[in-house]
Amino acid sequence: MSSATGLQVFPGATWTASDGRHIQAHGGGIIKVGSTFYWHGEDKTHGTGFHNINCYSSTDLVQWHYDGSSLTQQESGDLGPDRIVERPKVVYNKHSGMYVMFLHIDDLDYGEGKVGIATCDTVNGRYEYIGSFHPLGYESRDMGVFVDDDDKGYLTCEDRPNGIHIFELSQDYLSVVEQVHLFPEHLESPAMIKRDGLYYLFASGLTFWFANDNLYTTATSLTGPWAGWRMFAKPASATYSSQVAFILPIGPSSALYMGDRWQYPGLPRSTYVWLPLEIDGRDVKMDNPQSFAIDVSTGAMAIPRSSRSYPPRIETSEERGQSETLASFVLEIGQETEGLTIALSYSTACEDEKVALVTIDGSEVEHHVAFLGNSSAQKESFSVVHWTERLPKGQHILKVVGPGSKSEGLQIRAAVDYHIPQ
Ligand code: GAL
Repeated sequence: MSSATGLQVFPGATWTASDGRHIQAHGGGIIKVGSTFYWHGEDKTHGTGFHNINCYSSTDLVQWHYDGSSLTQQESGDLGPDRIVERPKVVYNKHSGMYVMFLHIDDLDYGEGKVGIATCDTVNGRYEYIGSFHPLGYESRDMGVFVDDDDKGYLTCEDRPNGIHIFELSQDYLSVVEQVHLFPEHLESPAMIKRDGLYYLFASGLTFWFANDNLYTTATSLTGPWAGWRMFAKPASATYSSQVAFILPIGPSSALYMGDRWQYPGLPRSTYVWLPLEIDGRDVKMDNPQSFAIDVSTGAMAIPRSSRSYPPRIETSEERGQSETLASFVLEIGQETEGLTIALSYSTACEDEKVALVTIDGSEVEHHVAFLGNSSAQKESFSVVHWTERLPKGQHILKVVGPGSKSEGLQIRAAVDYHIPQ
């Protein structure tokens, strides 16, 4: 890591994108093109019914640029009002040169259970919706897609009466050719990866929007035999209150778990639980650190060894009189840095999302930081700011400034930084 601390992912925190809003890319997946990661997911700003599949891009998996909507509500049909369009997963088809997006298509009662397909010639462009179908006549709800080393594509589908199917896709990935395996267990949200010749399938139990202990199984061939399902997170932690959405392999031996911490009711306030997976042959384990840094070139993930919490600084009456400062903090930077993630502990009784500006030492650089609503003082809620400008060793004043009503009711209680050992 080149910086003193390294930018960090904070599982479960408000995650602000370049548009100053919490990322809305739930139930999503990531595809890497060149050195850029693209994250497609559900926009739950308006709750369950479909409005958008959003796309964000990043080169470090921490700072995300909002690239826009890849698929948006249409006047009628599968993507019309009051429809379910969930779990977008994008893969690249080498034969057609097209990006293919797979989706769960349904009515609001989840009575249709179909797979939808949309395509685009650029990864973050506007996708063209092709249509939906029942794969080989079966119903399909949560789904995942996997491309093997030989470029063959596979669709994993949850079928309520029968279990999880693995289907082989046609060469252009636009249709299903045959069933490769059927798991009779009733699990959902299947996510597959391959590592050193071993296939891993992750899935969750069926408990609506509520989290459960997710499971995984392994096999040397997609047709099986598959090992018995095992837990990978701490038992009875409900996978640290999350549901698997996607597993992202990084570097030769690392993989990142991407889960959703659904908030129900209050789906727009759902957060992301991303955590490092420790994979050792058929053994997979996942701990629950408060934060971690990822080196995307090697896949190395580093967990902080210590943290420092700063109480709000008492402002002079002159400062109080002239600014809209919500809180300010004196940071102690032990070593020059160009990559510092600061977590802001906050509370707000409002349901709607708030936004504030963060500056350090009155610099021209300002970061918009979002704060998800409904975070009572009893609950520890965090939002984070990623400061990439150079900060020399020593004391620095961080200010959180509230521009009017957009930050009304927001209380910033502490700033915390977490130190990654060098
Ligand atoms: C979950 C599923 C979500 C969504 C939800 C609706 O089980 O994983 O993607 O479909 O049910 O009830």
